[in-house]
Amino acid sequence: MPVTSGTSERRLLVLYGSQTGTAHDVADRIVRDAKRRHFSSKAVAMDSYNMGQLIKEPLIVFVCSTTGQGDAPDNMRMFWKFLLRKDLPSTSLTSVQFAVLGLGDSSYQKFNVVGKKLQKRLEQLGGSSITKLGLADDQHDLGVDAVVSPWLSELWAKVMEMWPLPPGLEVISESVCPPPKYKAVFVDMESSQEERPLPVSSDISPGPLCPFHARLLSNQRVTAADHFQDVRLIKLDITGSGLSFEPGDVAMIHPENLTDTVEAFLSLLELNPDQMFRLEENDPEVPLPARFPSPCSIRWLVTHYLDINSVPRKSFFELLKYHADDELEREKLEEFCTPEGQEELYSYCNRVKRTILEILEDFHKTSKRIPFDYLFDVIPALQPRAFSIASSIKAHPTQLHLLMAVVRYRTKLQNARRGVCSTWLSSLSPDRQDTYVPIWVKKGTIRFPADHDVPLVLVGPGTGLAPFRSVIQERASQGKGGVVLFFGCRSKHKDFFCEEEFAKLEEKGLISLHTAFSRDQDEKIYVQHRIREQGRQVWNVLSEQNGAFYIAGNAKSMPDDVKEALCDVISEHGEMTKEQAATYIQALERVRRFQVEAWS
Ligand code: 2AM
Repeated sequence: MPVTSGTSERRLLVLYGSQTGTAHDVADRIVRDAKRRHFSSKAVAMDSYNMGQLIKEPLIVFVCSTTGQGDAPDNMRMFWKFLLRKDLPSTSLTSVQFAVLGLGDSSYQKFNVVGKKLQKRLEQLGGSSITKLGLADDQHDLGVDAVVSPWLSELWAKVMEMWPLPPGLEVISESVCPPPKYKAVFVDMESSQEERPLPVSSDISPGPLCPFHARLLSNQRVTAADHFQDVRLIKLDITGSGLSFEPGDVAMIHPENLTDTVEAFLSLLELNPDQMFRLEENDPEVPLPARFPSPCSIRWLVTHYLDINSVPRKSFFELLKYHADDELEREKLEEFCTPEGQEELYSYCNRVKRTILEILEDFHKTSKRIPFDYLFDVIPALQPRAFSIASSIKAHPTQLHLLMAVVRYRTKLQNARRGVCSTWLSSLSPDRQDTYVPIWVKKGTIRFPADHDVPLVLVGPGTGLAPFRSVIQERASQGKGGVVLFFGCRSKHKDFFCEEEFAKLEEKGLISLHTAFSRDQDEKIYVQHRIREQGRQVWNVLSEQNGAFYIAGNAKSMPDDVKEALCDVISEHGEMTKEQAATYIQALERVRRFQVEAWS
């Protein structure tokens, strides 16, 4: 391994691929650590980085997460495609020293595959890895930090050995608060009503930097009023958006924080919601956030930008502690940041899913002292949410439908919790003319055959129905069917949504529907029971008609249970052993005739 002396440039680039913000957060932490060690350093999303510059970088730390189905995050897809190009010579990166930290979840089959593949590919292209690959696991009792922190300690030991500090310089202590990312300059003007950050131009197709503001057409509860779960069918008007999508694609939505939490935050931090400010750069390496109105009111900031209702990551505590001068609060926050304090931090924060707002309420003396500029460092940015699209653009050319459960649950603290995006969407009324939903679409993980004559077996309990409603509508708009649909819910009278729609499709002979109402009788009946009962039909679709099998819905045990039922069906009707049936499913999976879309 070529050990570079301290004379080479002290520059450390962090490239991240982040889906929900965790990898981005870790990347920012590495940059802060690097700056304390006198490196010039910045964190850039892989797809925002000019790849032509890669060979000029002396040291790159990659932080990338693996999404549920084993895919790379959206903001590293182009970068990854570029690295995989066959025409790249095996000496492309010989000048580059690198380290890879993968963030994953071992409850999914393809644990950390993105990090593993990235490490391998960088080595194939001649790069030198300076540490062993880090594989953090969200399933760990203490979350990803259980691996991230020791991995970072090793990384810094190695980096400082290879790039020793020039004489006269010392590592800046962690107790020194780093400068804020941005500068906020207060301006004296009235807040305007129209604060949508809208650089919308008709020639830009909607995306994360420029969502389309869709008008709400309807927001209908499709479960009975006394049912435990509130599920909504939401219809959006996408006329003139240029959006196009196929069955299986996903809608991304930028939510707003709920008004009561916005008000609580404003009053806790004693902020004037009507005060206007302009955000300015404070570090040339850190570009201003996209989609940010200028000037902006504090109300807009808290409603649309600060993620005050999320469960914070450790960096939140690390950055909050700098502003504590109350002794008790400071001691507690400092303890949360020590290795010994991790168990307690986890119990206080993650185990009970305490939100940023609740923590700021607990540490109210510190909260009031956070300088306004630092809010952008301490509190992460609100992230868009993904929903399977539940309609077909061929059936409804100017509409996009969502079928969404309003997320409500109780934590171990018995506090009621609401999902930010679903609660916000469910609170919207189509009667208000100013109700707009910022939206764009992206490719989903499941794909349906382009040939509408290929028969399909679709298994979608609950809101798992969403992508299947889309493909069924698409086929029906062309007079095609060929769908065997297994739908499951708790009760025929409470949550059998789309019942009338299905009845009409059945009448026309476009679908064959099998329902499983789990709680309408003493014993549970699930979709997998119906699959076993209809074994001959399912086997016939797969073996005689070259059809495909799809599962969508909640990730707990449903997908595995359904797969097991399919295995039994294949084994019984195809006269195979269980092992042969499992191999048969694997073969279907390879040619995408068996696909699963699961979410939690
Ligand atoms: P339950 O709530 O009565 O257990 C949609 O959520 C439907 O999926 C409900 O009827 C739910 O039943 C059912 N469900 C829960 N766990 C399941 C599993 N492992 N396999 C199939 N269906 C399941």
